Amino acid sequence: MVVGLGPGDRECMTPQAVQAVKECDAVTGYETYLELISDLTGDKEIVSSGMRKEVDRARQALEIAEQDKTVAVVSSGDPGVYGMAGIILEVVSGKVPVEIVPGVTAASAAAASIGAPIVNDFASISLSDILTPWKQMVERIEAAALGNFVIVLYNPRSKGRPDNIKTAREVILWHRTPDTPVGIVRKANRGEEEKTITTLQDMLKSEIDMLTTVIIGNSETTVKNGCIVTPRGYIF
Ligand SMILES: C[S@@+](CC[C@H](N)C(=O)[O-])C[C@H]1O[C@@H](n2cnc3c(N)ncnc32)[C@H](O)[C@@H]1O
Repeated sequence: MVVGLGPGDRECMTPQAVQAVKECDAVTGYETYLELISDLTGDKEIVSSGMRKEVDRARQALEIAEQDKTVAVVSSGDPGVYGMAGIILEVVSGKVPVEIVPGVTAASAAAASIGAPIVNDFASISLSDILTPWKQMVERIEAAALGNFVIVLYNPRSKGRPDNIKTAREVILWHRTPDTPVGIVRKANRGEEEKTITTLQDMLKSEIDMLTTVIIGNSETTVKNGCIVTPRGYIF
């Protein structure tokens, strides 16, 4: 099974995910995520791996499953949102049953921490160009901006690609005003949470890294009482 751990804090891990980890024979995942659940894994078989080893991790998990063991492949947030669910279903043979246990994705955790920015239509875009060509990513960013979607940026900035977030901001500015509200949430629900409410104009003044989710409002998004809110159109 592929298990979503949520954004980090145990309170945000679903009871179904806790149960799944407790009941499995083996656990595999990125080492940082295994540390988050070390109290649940006890003396289970543990297979940890580093970043960008998703295909190896999926194959190892299937080898374990083929020995008639229940293996939990853990993934942060929701495993079906830039997580391990896809690659597992791509590499699995028909004989091994796969269950996907959902989790609270970073977009939900970050949104809750700054208000209600994604209460209306939104587009989620990862700024990692390891698997998606940069040209296609820019086209998606512009399409989302043109469509007036609230835009959630995952994987916004790493040391290896510090400038993607700058380009994304510039493209969005072609279709949105500089005072558009932007929420930047680092380590949402993972202890030491940091959050900033700023604007498209000023967003690059805040720290943005791979532990951050950035939410850019649409043309109607406002800041009210210290919270970002995107109207749904209710009349009151
Ligand atoms: C590979 S994606 C995995 C997303 C994950 N499957 C999910 O549903 O949240 C990693 C990105 O998710 C975002 N992220 C994950 N956990 C986060 C957290 N606790 N706070 C803020 N952003 C987070 C960051 O943008 C990070 O670069």
